[in-house]
Amino acid sequence: MNIKNSPIGFFDSGVGGLSVMKEAISIMPNENFIYFGDSKNAPYGTKELDNVKNLTLNAVDFLLNKNVKAVVVACNTATSAAIEDIRDKYKNTVIIGIEPALKPAVKLKRKGNIIIMATPMTLKEKKFKLLMDKYKNESSIVSLPCAGLVEFIEEGILNGEKLENYLRQKFKPYLNANIAAIVLGCTHYPFIKEALSNVIGEDIPLIDGGLGTSHELKRKLIEKDLLNDSKEKGKITIYNSINDNKIIDFCYNLINIKI
Ligand code: DGL
Repeated sequence: MNIKNSPIGFFDSGVGGLSVMKEAISIMPNENFIYFGDSKNAPYGTKELDNVKNLTLNAVDFLLNKNVKAVVVACNTATSAAIEDIRDKYKNTVIIGIEPALKPAVKLKRKGNIIIMATPMTLKEKKFKLLMDKYKNESSIVSLPCAGLVEFIEEGILNGEKLENYLRQKFKPYLNANIAAIVLGCTHYPFIKEALSNVIGEDIPLIDGGLGTSHELKRKLIEKDLLNDSKEKGKITIYNSINDNKIIDFCYNLINIKI
């Protein structure tokens, strides 16, 4: 089989990485995609580092056993915990990670705080410290760890009173000052944009790294001459560590909803 026809593998601790994969599908509709969500073990962001490393390496093995031509770690938490180990282990494979999209938020040059929402692990790890060092003199940046938020999305709660109360509580200390932009530093969060805008106001930009990461993936595939040259729409296959049709159906819905 021509390797160009092989699927691209996407991985996340759960359903969140679909917010990235849907962008990749939109710019490369003729590629085949395989998604693996580890919802059984979600959330990752409040676990021990070694545990997340192991879970991530196992997930990457799962995708490589499906003969994917590239792996996207569509999870900020798994990227910060394990991307170096994955790159070390699979030197010849295209591996793409994701990190909070701070650069586009800084570039907007809006007045006020840039608030980065992410899991506690993402905000604690070295990778994030390096990112902060790059931009901390250009903008006022606030880290907002959101333990408990991934669980809403995993449960299919994308709007409503309970979720908005959670967000209102989180943003309480910041609502009286200007908010320049919100960086969605977890791939689950783009699915709750509407609830977030209801709480913080419609006019505050919500920035995620899904499209940027998908463009990086495309660039890498072009560079390695791995882009699929098929003229037909590709196939999408979804796996989840919770082996249940309900979650698989939910995943297909998430690919199709507008965010
Ligand atoms: N989607 C993951 C991320 O981008 C969520 C991590 C978690 O399961 O806590 O960080």
